[in-house]
Amino acid sequence: MKTISTKIALLSILSIGLVATSCRKKEGCTDSEALNFDSKAKRDNGTCEYDVHNPTAHILAVPYTLNKYLPAPSIPADNPMTEEGVELGRKLFYEKLLSGDNTESCSSCHLQDHAFGDENSFSIGIDGLQGGRSAMPIWNMAWNSGNKFFWDGRADGIEGQALQPVINPIEMHAVWPNVVDKLQAHNDYPSLFKKAFGTDIIDSNLVVKAIAQFERTLISGNSKFDKYLKGEAQLTPSELNGYNIFMDEAGGDCFHCHGDAVNPLWTDNRFHNNGLDATHTDLGLGAVTGDPNDNGKFKTPSLRNLAYTAPYMHDSRFATLDEVINFYSVELKYSSTIDPLMKNVSVGGVQLNPQDRIDLKAFLLTLTDEDFINNPKFSNPN
Ligand code: HEC
Ligand code: HEC
Repeated sequence: MKTISTKIALLSILSIGLVATSCRKKEGCTDSEALNFDSKAKRDNGTCEYDVHNPTAHILAVPYTLNKYLPAPSIPADNPMTEEGVELGRKLFYEKLLSGDNTESCSSCHLQDHAFGDENSFSIGIDGLQGGRSAMPIWNMAWNSGNKFFWDGRADGIEGQALQPVINPIEMHAVWPNVVDKLQAHNDYPSLFKKAFGTDIIDSNLVVKAIAQFERTLISGNSKFDKYLKGEAQLTPSELNGYNIFMDEAGGDCFHCHGDAVNPLWTDNRFHNNGLDATHTDLGLGAVTGDPNDNGKFKTPSLRNLAYTAPYMHDSRFATLDEVINFYSVELKYSSTIDPLMKNVSVGGVQLNPQDRIDLKAFLLTLTDEDFINNPKFSNPN
């Protein structure tokens, strides 16, 4: 008897409590879409709060020559450009938490004052290890028509590319879950991701989306030659002669692969064997496709900003432009995959005379864009 009455007493206390709670809970936010949705509320009291994720679209500022001669920049539908995304990406590009021991960021090898390339022949990763290829400078990524990245084209898309350096053992040597944990625990990042992507749950996919948005803003299109095309600058006779040599099939014959006035990217973004070696230690594209016909093929680099991107070629073998021009003039090496456009390989190259070499170099340097190197929007925001 005693136990039963105790139980009844307990139950009645509980039910009084429940009634009291449900009375208090009667009012609240009843909209299940709202952030503060209250499933126990019976009547809506107008306190619902909603997630206003309404980022501002970022419109790429496309300079005159790129706008005039190129198709519109290509932006993937699943990663539209926003001001918030670009700013976050810029912060992440300079963020050392992306490396295993918090000592390196993307910018450790991609330095603005080297046109987002590296002054070292081979970039040095967090463990002091060196790769066998030079860091590629970064600009005009949104016009990379084939969407293949790296010297050998092994990455598809800018977002896909950015996943790789973080985990590369000779680069940032981290694992993505640790990087994500560090960003998640950071004071600023969760709210910045929320502003950019509408969620403060960070993942590697969103990290690379933000970085790619920033990279797409790295546009170079205001060199002396761009200004010349725009009618705002004059070329010297030497620079003009250099351009003619560049364009002349019986002269330097450079334009097939490296662009011209109507392809102001100054690259075809394709892969060629330009005759550097008779045998290939680095197979380049061939190692990626497995096709021996691709051995020794590398992505054509853009010739913009050469004043800032020495040393040259995928393995940084040439310290100066004079060495590069000497190579194309007399040092070409035959191998079975050499590009048919290297028509003069049997005589070693295009045989430019000393004055032509000086003029060609003068022209190449007109493609250097000081505004790009000094643009404050690209610098370290941290
Ligand atoms: C330790 C030096 C190092 C770090 C750190 C580094 N990179 Fe690179 N980056 C390189 C090298 C070297 C290459 C060329 C590698 C190859 O082709 O195999 C490269 C290539 C690239 C390319 C290809 C460009 C093109 O035209 O195909 C992009 C884009 C790039 N890096 C972005 C990044 C981003 C984003 C980060 C940070 C998440 C980063 N890099 C971190 C050294 C580095
Ligand atoms: C058949 C296509 C082709 C032709 C023609 C060609 N190049 Fe290249 N060029 C390339 C490729 C591919 C590379 C990168 C090769 C590598 O690193 O393995 C390159 C690299 C370069 C570089 C180094 C850029 C850097 O940032 O490392 C310069 C400078 C250059 N070429 C200038 C010229 C000039 C000047 C001419 C004409 C005399 C010329 N090229 C003709 C395909 C070509």
